[in-house]
Amino acid sequence: MKKQQFVSDYTVYEDENELAKFAAADAELLRQAHEATGNAYVPYSKFHVGAAVRLANGVVVKGSNIENAAYPSGLCAERVALFSAQAQFPGVAVEALAITACSEIKDVTEPVAPCGACRQVMVETEQRSGSPMRIICQGNTGKVFVFEGVETLMPFIFLTKFM
Ligand code: THU
Repeated sequence: MKKQQFVSDYTVYEDENELAKFAAADAELLRQAHEATGNAYVPYSKFHVGAAVRLANGVVVKGSNIENAAYPSGLCAERVALFSAQAQFPGVAVEALAITACSEIKDVTEPVAPCGACRQVMVETEQRSGSPMRIICQGNTGKVFVFEGVETLMPFIFLTKFM
């Protein structure tokens, strides 16, 4: 018997301005994710999530969370953006995904962590394209976390190779 650990590396930036000094395109993607929070439909949670996907062809596809009175029928911003990108540009790799949120109830000062279902979708998106995507997370303000590839966020993931 032996104990093992999952170890994840990620980069922390003080804010979007520091990110812009190192990676201007990623800071711009984050700005577009913030913009997308304005299109969220969130009468139940009041929690506006915005996502922006940058594709290898340079196109940016945005998504927002869309809720429904039948709660499970709603969808997270990340999957709205990723599915929309796949539907409009099949076969084009996703380079990066930025995720942000703001709330009508409180300040969101911590980076938003994507839910498990969205991570599972990110994994298969990466698998299709064969290259890891960069994931950029921020709250409404504050620190920015950057992950290189979704397996850093979700180790020991279910993959098609298991089937
Ligand atoms: N939500 C997202 O859009 N992305 C996530 O990764 C987590 C949660 C949405 C779903 C729901 O509309 C609201 O946030 C509260 O859970």
